[in-house]
Amino acid sequence: MKVLGINGSARKDGNTAISMEKVFGDLNKEGIETETIQFSSKIIEPCKACLICGGKVVNKMKKKICIMLSFLLLIIMAGCGSKETEKGTQSTLPKTDGQRKQAINDEQEGSGTENQELSEAGSEAEQEFTMETKTLVVYFSATGTTKPLAEYAADILNADLYEIVPEIPYTEEDLAYYTDGRADQEQSDSSARPAISGNVENMGRYDTIVLGYPIWHGQAPRIISTFLESYDFSGKTIIPFCTSHSSGIGSSADNLHDLCSDSTEWKEGKRFEAAASKEEIEEWLKSM
Ligand SMILES: Cc1cc2nc3c(=O)[nH]c(=O)nc-3n(C[C@H](O)[C@H](O)[C@H](O)COP(=O)(O)O)c2cc1C
Repeated sequence: MKVLGINGSARKDGNTAISMEKVFGDLNKEGIETETIQFSSKIIEPCKACLICGGKVVNKMKKKICIMLSFLLLIIMAGCGSKETEKGTQSTLPKTDGQRKQAINDEQEGSGTENQELSEAGSEAEQEFTMETKTLVVYFSATGTTKPLAEYAADILNADLYEIVPEIPYTEEDLAYYTDGRADQEQSDSSARPAISGNVENMGRYDTIVLGYPIWHGQAPRIISTFLESYDFSGKTIIPFCTSHSSGIGSSADNLHDLCSDSTEWKEGKRFEAAASKEEIEEWLKSM
C-alpha cells in the first residue's frame, strides 16, 4: 500500500507540513510507503474554461481531488488521535522553547486573516512540542572522561540520560591498551558484542539520541555496537560525539551506521577534549 498526501497549505514548513511529516513518519515506521505533494512548490494555473475537454477533464479532476482530500483528512485525523504522538513531531534535534515560540510566531505572522485560528493551532503545537519531543543522551565512559560531557548535553537539552553499563565491568588491566588485554581484543574483533547491564525503558518515546563514547583504537568501543543492535532506531536521529587522548572522531561514527536502519538519520559527530566545557558542548548542540 502507498499513501499519497497532498499538502494544500501555502506555507512550505507550516503546521500542516509538520503534522503530515509526523503522520507519514509513523506510517513509514509501519512499513507503509508514502508520497507527499506540496501545493506550495507547484506552479498551478487556474482553468481557463476553454472547454476543449468538453468539461470532462474538469469533472474528473474535481472527483479525484475530492477523493484525495477526504483520504488526507482521514490520515491526519488518525495521526492526531494516535497515542503514538507521544514521540513528538521533529526528526532532528528539538528546538529550545524560545525557538519553538519563534517558529510558531513566524507561522502566525504569515497571514493576517488567519490569525485567530493560527494562534489556537500555534498554542496547541507549542504545547505538543514542549510536552512530547524527547531526546535521550546515551553514553559509555570506561574511565569517566565522556561522562561529564554527556551530563552537560542532557542538562542543556533537558534530556534524559542513560549510561551504558557493561555487564562485566572493565578493570584497569582490561583497559590498558596495546597490552592485548580485554579492550584491545574486543576492538580487534568486529563481531565482539560485550553485554550491557540493564536497558533503556521505552526507547520508542525518544526521537533523538545523543551518543557519547571514548575512542578505542580509532573506533567506538564494541559495547556501542551492542547498544545500537539492541533497539530499533528507525526514523530516529543519532548525534554522535566522542572523547579521546588525541585521535579525531574519524570513521568511528560512520562505521556504526550499518548497525541501524536505513531510515536512521546520523548527524555529523564531533570529538571533544577531556576538559571540554559545558559552553563548548552547548555551542556544538546549537549548531545542529
Ligand atoms: C582500549 C583503549 C584504546 C584507546 N585508543 C585510543 C585511540 O585510538 N586514540 C586516542 O586518542 N585515544 C585512545 N584511547 C584513550 C581514550 O579514548 C580516552 O582516554 C577517552 O577520553 C576515555 O574516555 P572515558 O574515560 O569516557 O572512557 C584508548 C583507550 C582505551 C582504553
